[in-house]
Amino acid sequence: MGALSKRAIGAALMDQQINLFACPVCQQSMYVYEQGRLVCSANHSFDIAKQGYVNMLTNSVSSKYSKSLFESRKAVIDSGIYDVVEAKISEIVAPAKTVLDTGCGEGSHLARIMKAKKYGIGIGIDIAKEGIMAAVRHYPQQIWCVGDLAKSPFAKASFDAILNILSPANYEEFKRLLAPDGCIVKVVPQSGYLQELRAQLYADSSKETYSNEQIVARFQDSFHEVTKERVTYTLPLDENLVPALLEMTPMGWHKKEDKDLILNAITIDVDLLVGKV
Ligand SMILES: C[S@@+](CC[C@H](N)C(=O)[O-])C[C@H]1O[C@@H](n2cnc3c(N)ncnc32)[C@H](O)[C@@H]1O
Ligand SMILES: [Zn+2]
Repeated sequence: MGALSKRAIGAALMDQQINLFACPVCQQSMYVYEQGRLVCSANHSFDIAKQGYVNMLTNSVSSKYSKSLFESRKAVIDSGIYDVVEAKISEIVAPAKTVLDTGCGEGSHLARIMKAKKYGIGIGIDIAKEGIMAAVRHYPQQIWCVGDLAKSPFAKASFDAILNILSPANYEEFKRLLAPDGCIVKVVPQSGYLQELRAQLYADSSKETYSNEQIVARFQDSFHEVTKERVTYTLPLDENLVPALLEMTPMGWHKKEDKDLILNAITIDVDLLVGKV
């Protein structure tokens, strides 16, 4: 596949779903101009990159998430440790025609969820260009945008489902973007999340424990018909995955030089929050 055709494929997908987009500067509707740009009626213009994603940032931002961090996240997600969580999300969003993944990173969760539900279009947005570049490279069937949730490039009431997986949220924006019957699905780490890693890296320190209480309370205050399911399981871990597991977060889970990590298993422990506007 040549570079031009990747841009054309991305542009064609965006064109099919053009009603989902709104200019992040003036909120007017947009159109695809000669397969190379998304343009609004006031002439604000955003490039569709040759890789097939669109950059909708209105100012340049620097991200702490690097290319290798996203490669590590992909390796870890590909290993299947989130399969149970993804399967539950696929079921929840099964009827959704339009699914927006906010802070989608390198896109694997969204791509796997859309594949499992076999229906609808997924759009991933992330402020980190490196993440979106990985996403479009691996999953050109979905639409990928570099953009800021605080100035999101989408039209109001456009999405049947919004995903927010282990990522920062913007609830005012989610409410604006959700269709009247739409649902928001948020995944928040619980106290046992990756506990084997935490225990070895942070023995005797406060970072060994973690509470998500405030995040859950804010979600419950912000949405209606909220349900919360705690999903907890421990899987055996292939030792080849340990370096990727260490690198997949910028939170400073860095191996101390003198510390030999032994990880045979890893725990996923998350709250799955679902709500409506
Ligand atoms: C911990 S990562 C999770 C990525 C992905 N959901 C996953 O589970 O692999 C958090 C992501 O949120 C993105 N993010 C942070 N602030 C954002 C914002 N204002 N707008 C869009 N994305 C943002 C980061 O770039 C990063 O990719
Ligand atoms: Zn505009």
